[in-house]
Parts: sequence; C-alpha cells; structure tokens
Amino acid sequence: MGGPEIPTRFGRLDAHHASDGVSSADGRLPDGDKDANHIRGIFGPKGFEDRDMVALSGAHTVGMCHGDRSGFEGPWTDDKLLFDNSYFKDLLQKPWTKETNRHGKPQYRSGETMMLTTDMALVEDPAFKQHVERYAADQKSWFDDFAKAWVRLQEFNSGELRDIL
Ligand code: HEM
Repeated sequence: MGGPEIPTRFGRLDAHHASDGVSSADGRLPDGDKDANHIRGIFGPKGFEDRDMVALSGAHTVGMCHGDRSGFEGPWTDDKLLFDNSYFKDLLQKPWTKETNRHGKPQYRSGETMMLTTDMALVEDPAFKQHVERYAADQKSWFDDFAKAWVRLQEFNSGELRDIL
C-alpha cells in the first residue's frame, strides 16, 4: 500500500482460549465521536505521547468506516488503498462540514470523504496540531514515527517475542 516497512515479531499471547478474549471490553478501544481528552485517556496509560497518538491516527489514511459496523460511514481519503500522508494534508486543507449521517452518527464530510470527531480533534487541539502539520509537510517523518509507534502498540505488555514464526 506504499507505507513504511515495519518489523514484526511473533509469539504474542493475550489469551489461551476464545473465552479469555477481552477484545470488546469497555475502555480498550477509543470512541470515534469523542474529543482530544478521550484520545489521551485511552493511549496515555499505555505510555503513548501526543506525537505517537497523532502518528497512529494517521492509519486512517487507509480503509473506511462502515455503517453496518461502527455506524460511521465512508473513507477518510480519496484513495483508501494508498498508505501516504494525505490524511494529514486533508485534515488541514479540505473544508470539513459537520453532519449527522443516516445512521444518526455525527461525523465530518468533504465530498466523498469523511473524518471522525477524534480525527478533527487532531487539528482542533494545538498540541496535536503541530504534529499534523509536520506529518503533512514531511511524509518520511510520519513514516518513521508511525513505524516506531506501531511496533510499541503491537508489542505492548508482551515479552519474549521472537523474530520468526
Ligand atoms: C482515536 C483513535 C481511534 C478511533 C476513535 C478509531 C475509530 C475507528 C472507527 C470508528 C473505524 C471504522 C470501523 C468500521 O466501521 O468498520 C476505524 C477504522 C479503522 N481504523 Fe481506527 N480508530 C482509532 C485509531 C486507530 C489506530 C491507532 C489505528 C492503527 C494504527 C487505526 C486503524 C484503522 C483502520 C486501518 C481502519 C479501517 C478498517 C477498514 O477499512 O475496515 N485506527 N477506526
């Protein structure tokens, strides 16, 4: 998809059986209709700083929201299969209009593309915004920060990982 190379280590074990699963437990995943404080409340306790939170949110440069899943709807960027820094450029440059979508969810629209309230928080909060501006101007700086933050997210709380399957 055009993104950075990311080293991946194997052997992460969060659960022995499906019944041990915690994937839908409250508070593990952020809600798309909340503000900057919520983003910090979710990622801060896991050791992430503002810069990491902005870098990770840039993953929304690929993929899309689905009305039948989250209730939010649409792709963030014009090419949802391309991993580039257009998410950050679009946040700064496109005109965004708040709307309530047909599933009753609040989101922002510009043409066929959308942003969540948490995405917009990255330009509304001055401390977050300086990182958005840097990543919009310098894709390599984002790729470097994203790769590092992704590895930390992937390996959070797990030890004894190995380089091969
Ligand atoms: C503030 C933090 C975040 C919020 C509120 C959030 C919220 C969401 C929501 C609501 C969706 C749409 C789900 C659906 O309807 O199918 C989504 C999709 C997605 N998120 Fe996030 N997310 C956050 C952070 C992240 C992070 C840290 C990553 C990865 C580093 C990420 C990667 C993705 C991707 C790739 C999709 C598209 C999935 C698809 O195309 O099916 N998001 N996110």
